[in-house]
Amino acid sequence: MAESIVLSKNLTKSEKYEQILPQIAAVLSGETDEIANMANVAAILKEVFDFFWVGFYRNNGEELVLGPFQGPLACTRIAYERGVCGASFSQKKTIIVPNVDEFPGHIACSSASKSEIVLPNIKNDEVTFVLDVDSDKLNDFDEIDKIYLEKIVDLL
Ligand code: SME
Repeated sequence: MAESIVLSKNLTKSEKYEQILPQIAAVLSGETDEIANMANVAAILKEVFDFFWVGFYRNNGEELVLGPFQGPLACTRIAYERGVCGASFSQKKTIIVPNVDEFPGHIACSSASKSEIVLPNIKNDEVTFVLDVDSDKLNDFDEIDKIYLEKIVDLL
């Protein structure tokens, strides 16, 4: 397994995603344990993009439970219908929130979080987990993040 992610200098956001995608695929291909793979994906995304918080909430059959993450302490359990994670879970789609203060029901694990993107992983029509990425800047996520983060979520 590669020991570190290799990245050229002065890349655009989509170029960074293009460079890390095959490296993430290579890292995941050597391991079948989902928790281990989630942990490495969270670490890679945090290192490359310096997101404020990046992590997973897993569907345990009753609610969403915190999985591997990078960043500050976070809430451990989220009901299916609550917050941005719950919205992504129940609508089975990616949700981009440009300003978390304007999202009804947003769960503020940290007041420093300003914008957010949540992407579901769907297997056999069931959401198995969501990937949640938070930024301390407003309006920090767009279609580029959606496209590439969905690809990463699909690799898991
Ligand atoms: N903001 C999320 C909760 C998880 S934390 O951001 C890590 C939500 O509203 O679902």
